[in-house]
Parts: sequence; structure tokens; C-alpha cells
Amino acid sequence: MTEIARNMLFEPGAPLRGTVQVPGDKSISHRSLMLSALSVGESRVSGLLEGEDVLATAAAMRALGAQIHRSDDGVWHVHGVGVGSLVQPETALDMGNSGTSTRLLMGLLASHDLTATFVGDASLSKRPMGRVTTPLGLMGAEFMTSPGGRLPLTMRGLVPAVPIEYRLPVASAQVKSAILLAGLNTPGITRVIEPVPTRDHSERMLRGFGAQLTVETQADGTRIISLTGEAELKPQTLVVPGDPSSAAFPVVAALITPGSDVTVTNVGMNPTRTGLFRLLRAMGADLTIINEREVGGEPVADLVARHSALTGIDVPPDIAPSMIDEFPVFFVAAAHASGTTRTSGLDELRVKESDRLALMAQGLARIGASVEEKEDGLIIAGRGGDPLSGSNGTPTIAAELDHRIAMSFAVAGLATRGGLIIDDMSPVATSFPGFTAMLDRLRDAAA
Ligand code: S3P
Repeated sequence: MTEIARNMLFEPGAPLRGTVQVPGDKSISHRSLMLSALSVGESRVSGLLEGEDVLATAAAMRALGAQIHRSDDGVWHVHGVGVGSLVQPETALDMGNSGTSTRLLMGLLASHDLTATFVGDASLSKRPMGRVTTPLGLMGAEFMTSPGGRLPLTMRGLVPAVPIEYRLPVASAQVKSAILLAGLNTPGITRVIEPVPTRDHSERMLRGFGAQLTVETQADGTRIISLTGEAELKPQTLVVPGDPSSAAFPVVAALITPGSDVTVTNVGMNPTRTGLFRLLRAMGADLTIINEREVGGEPVADLVARHSALTGIDVPPDIAPSMIDEFPVFFVAAAHASGTTRTSGLDELRVKESDRLALMAQGLARIGASVEEKEDGLIIAGRGGDPLSGSNGTPTIAAELDHRIAMSFAVAGLATRGGLIIDDMSPVATSFPGFTAMLDRLRDAAA
């Protein structure tokens, strides 16, 4: 943790102007390292997110036998070992803050004949793992967990694992992906039934690496994903698009800060990820999508966001999976809209890097927003564009090891009379290295 990340002030000032590029997509970066490590030969990945979460995945894949290095041109080279050939790690796998690394790797290892121990930071050690240990247990893996099914935990994989057909009880791309990754080294067909569609990067990339994977979509939207096991993956050259979940911060900052006009280039526009942008436009945001194209099997575009008068909205719960990580910053936008924004069906936000419903409700209230916290959502009466301001000058918000809470309140601070202080910005390094420098650049461009 760097000293400079402590007690940072975010306050109103110049509008945000100019063009920025956000770091690579976190979900796609994790998957690119994992699947490359399971292909025999060298894969090359450019645009990889070099944040702490993805670096935790890289370190784990090295510990499991892959050779991984970054060349000076920023390209990551992965020499994989092949499906079924990961090796016994010598020490515990330290997952840091990263739920995605943990859950996907548990899937990978469930069908390998080895034992592994997973440890993580205080935030990760509170998060539920039963959602993956249950289906992976059905495939034959064994788990010894800490109380509540949490980390630290030790697992033993099984070879050959047992193929399962599993209906997801929670809408979770991590659970879906863990089962599919376990299925790679499992004889027969592993099937995941997904009643509510979640991000489909695993499906796209597994196909791209040569796995036999089919997706059948039923009339009610349920997706049935079938993977043929004992797969052989072929090395690939991959380009990771910018992370729409990171683009969300400069976009919302521009929408709520008077005089702003920001372009974010190279943003992943996979429809399973773009719920926030759809919703903001429905609220009246001046948000334009230009240069739509395809990069490495994923849709990509540039976004132009200008300060806008937003109107509150009733958020349909079925949009949640396509913007699940964007709710914290969405709540900030809602607090600046005119009229009321109501959300529901967001129980999952309570088990992210923090309890995001509770922290956003508390923090927004401290900066003067009118918020009601329900069990599964927030109801926010917006201020119609008037800057928020708390009763106590410049409040300090605790980020609680949650990068997206830190970044959401940093954005809020730019449009809050008197500003606010974030106690610790260091968690931002998990997903968005250079976040505060980007905000500074956008303001300098306007000065
Ligand atoms: C992710 C899935 C989502 C998301 C997380 C990344 C992934 O989690 O919140 O940041 O890469 O599969 P859930 O599967 O728990 O919804």
C-alpha cells in the first residue's frame, strides 16, 4: 500500500475534458491467462489488465506450471502445459482481493490430480465460496474450508472428474465459468443451465481456443451451455479490449460534472456487460457510442459522454447481471438525477468485495443524498443536478478494501460541494491502475 493512497481528497474543480483509454478488461484478462496456460505452446496476450487481481492469476498459473513473461512491448507471453497437466503448487495460492481468480481457479483444479490451498485478503476471506464448492463437489473435488465455506480453504481435485448438468441457483458468471473450466479435463459433456444470462467471455474464449462448446437459448432466455471434455486447446494471439466496468467511472464523472465532454476509447461492448450504458441513456444521458467494431471476438466501441440532465428511473431487476459491477457508480449518477431511482433484486451486491448496498447507502447519505436501503436494493431521491453536500463539510469515506466503492466516491467527490476524502485508494490497483492520474489528466485538459 502506498502512502499517497491514504486520505485522498476529491473535490469539485475544472470540468473533465479529453480522450482517455481505460485498462484492459479484468474478466477477459483472467480468462486469457488461464486458457493460455492450458494450451500447449505459446499464446500472446496484448492489452492485458496489469492490475493486482490479474497479477494474482498470473502468479497462480506460474505456480501451476505455466511459463509467463511480459515483453517490453507490453505483450504477455504464456507457454502453457495443456489441459490436465497443471502441476502441484509448492505453496498456498495467494488470491489477494480477487474473487474471480479464486473461483475460476478452483474450477480448473477440480479436475486435476493435485491439492491446493487458497488464501486471500480480509475482504476475499469473507466472501461465500459454497456457490462453487457445491457444484465442484458434485464433480468429485473435495474441500476443506474455513467456517461458512470461506477462505482459507484447501481442495483436492479428482481425475477423472464426473461430468454434471448444473442449473445455476445464482446468476453468476464466476460459478458458470468454474464449472466449465472443470469440465475441460472431465470425460463426457459438462452442462451448465443459466436461467439469467451472465457475461459470456468464458464461452467465447473457450470456443476461440478450440474447445467444443455449444449454447442453446430457449424461448424464455434460459441458456444451456454444453462443453465436451478432455478438450485440446490451441495457443492463441489475443487482444483484450478496455474494461466497460472501468469506463463506467469517467463516463459517470463526465455526466454529473458541469461542462464535461469525455471520450473513452476501445471499450468492450459485449451486450452481457453494457447494461449501465443502456440505463444511463434511458435516463437522458448524452452518451454516444461511436466506431463500433470487433476486436478479438468481442464487440468494441468508443464512448462520448457529456454533462447531462439525468432523470430517475425504475431499474428492471433483469438488467442487473449486465451491470452487476457498475451499480456503485450508477447510484452516484442516480443521486444527481431529478426524480426517484428504484432498484431491486440486487442481493448479490451484498457479497461483492464489500456489502456494496450498505456502503453506498451510508456513503451517499453522508454526502447529503436521500437514500433508502432495502434488503435487495436502494431507492434514491435525486437532487436534480444540484451538487450534493453533507452537513459535516468534507466527510471521510471508508473504502473497506473495495476498489469500486473507492472509485465511485472519488467520482462523487468531483460533483460534491466541499468534496470528500477517501481513506484508502490503494484497492483501486486491483482493477484500475492509473485511475486518479486519469481523472487529473481529464481536468488538466479542461484547465
Ligand atoms: C466476474 C463475474 C461477476 C463480477 C466479477 C467478475 C467474472 O461476479 O462481479 O467482477 O469475471 O466472471 P459474479 O459471477 O459473482 O456475479
